[in-house]
Amino acid sequence: MSDSVSPLNDPSASGKPSPNREQWSSRLVFVLAATGSAVGLGNIWKFPYITGEFGGGAFVLIYLICIASIGIPIMMAEIMLGRRGRHDPVTTMKKLAKESGHSRSWGLLGWMGVISGFLILSYYSVIAGWAMAYVPRMAAGTFVGLDAQAVNSVFSNLVSNPETLIAWHTLFLFMTMVVVAKGVRGGLEKAVTYLMPMLFLLLVILIFYAMGTGHFSEGLSYLFNPDFSKITTEGVLSAMGHAFFTLSLGMGAIMVYGSYLPAHTSIAKASILVAVMDTLVALLAGMIIFPIVFANALEPGAGPGLIFKTLPLAFGQMDYGTLFGTLFFILLVFAAWTSSISLIEPAITWGMKTFQISRIKTSVISGILVWFMGLFTVFSFNLASDVTISSVISTQYGEFVILKDATAFDFLDYLTSNIMLPLGGLMIAIYAGWLMKQEYSREELSVGSFWFPIWSILVRYVAPIMVIIVFLNAMGVVAFVRSIMGV
Ligand code: TRP
Repeated sequence: MSDSVSPLNDPSASGKPSPNREQWSSRLVFVLAATGSAVGLGNIWKFPYITGEFGGGAFVLIYLICIASIGIPIMMAEIMLGRRGRHDPVTTMKKLAKESGHSRSWGLLGWMGVISGFLILSYYSVIAGWAMAYVPRMAAGTFVGLDAQAVNSVFSNLVSNPETLIAWHTLFLFMTMVVVAKGVRGGLEKAVTYLMPMLFLLLVILIFYAMGTGHFSEGLSYLFNPDFSKITTEGVLSAMGHAFFTLSLGMGAIMVYGSYLPAHTSIAKASILVAVMDTLVALLAGMIIFPIVFANALEPGAGPGLIFKTLPLAFGQMDYGTLFGTLFFILLVFAAWTSSISLIEPAITWGMKTFQISRIKTSVISGILVWFMGLFTVFSFNLASDVTISSVISTQYGEFVILKDATAFDFLDYLTSNIMLPLGGLMIAIYAGWLMKQEYSREELSVGSFWFPIWSILVRYVAPIMVIIVFLNAMGVVAFVRSIMGV
């Protein structure tokens, strides 16, 4: 990407198609940007805690299968649609549908993406605020020598205080919206070039710490020894939902990034690279956190606070822990920052075009909306922590837990990760696999005569069928049919 104009702030991005539309300068830059979007709180905060909630190995295995068989093919499809449409997701889908003679209602897919991004950012920003709140605490040496219980109470004190959470949420969201509004993205992208490898390096340092806890192999076997008796239908749905979440799929973010991709770059190679790096970061995070959990007799299913209860404990005990810990949370905030930008970018490009207002105005309005939405998440951890909903369907074929004592935050997370993203991904797969003319997809992907049919099978059959089965399973339909047929 050039220094002066960044593609994501190109005014033509939401206007008429421009022959000179800005493009990434190379595949490497695209891969960096997409990795910046993919690697975030999902990998370091969410993956470990949901793995802990759903019992470890079996969940991880299902998640990995979903990355390979659903995530990568759908990522290719989403980038491909973006590059062919070269617009915001709504316009792209309308334009492509028209090109292939299908209904313009495909624009709804883009529209659902815009809403998903909004909803996700509203809680993402609050959690990123937690990570920010840990920077000064780390730097001040708050955790030095603390035991597990004391580290726990630092976390509980933080989340029980709505004013503090709102303050950090406001700061993080402000940082995000400034980048989105002003177009210093070029600068941020450059920062990512250095910061991402640093984050990776720190994770490697932490792995050595985890090895020294004496519980490393216990952690590894928790992560990689599948115990299928622990997995529930809800766990399967969450593993699939997380595959979408962690790769930033199903809502048009990667589609927007793809819209700036030069015509000749290989979509397949880029997708695989991004997915591999993303998965590596998540697995590293898991391999660090679970040994610490077991070494300190903590609860793997501690929920959203898991990394905030484990990592500070490690930093508090290790040499140079104050330095590494401070650096770690700073880098985590950066990782969250590059992700949050991609969450709101589809909404911004769409809003500018639809309401014909400037990027700055669109950013201010979106920022205010997301800020208010974020309050639901803030209060989920304190004032309104007992305002919950449950939705359990019990039938003679079993009990189907859709939501159990879900706070507003749990509900938002469930709705977006487990329903909206897979649904968006399903529609992307159906469009790219079945409705787009094969000559177009063949031309865009240009992966050769061996790989194209494989992609085609994955995106036409495997991915959609898997998504549908997981959905039906979660709703109890599969159990119902099996019992009728006696199998
Ligand atoms: N993938 C990011 C993470 O793991 C979050 C994210 C960024 C995202 N953009 C997205 C999730 C688009 C879903 C859709 O933290």
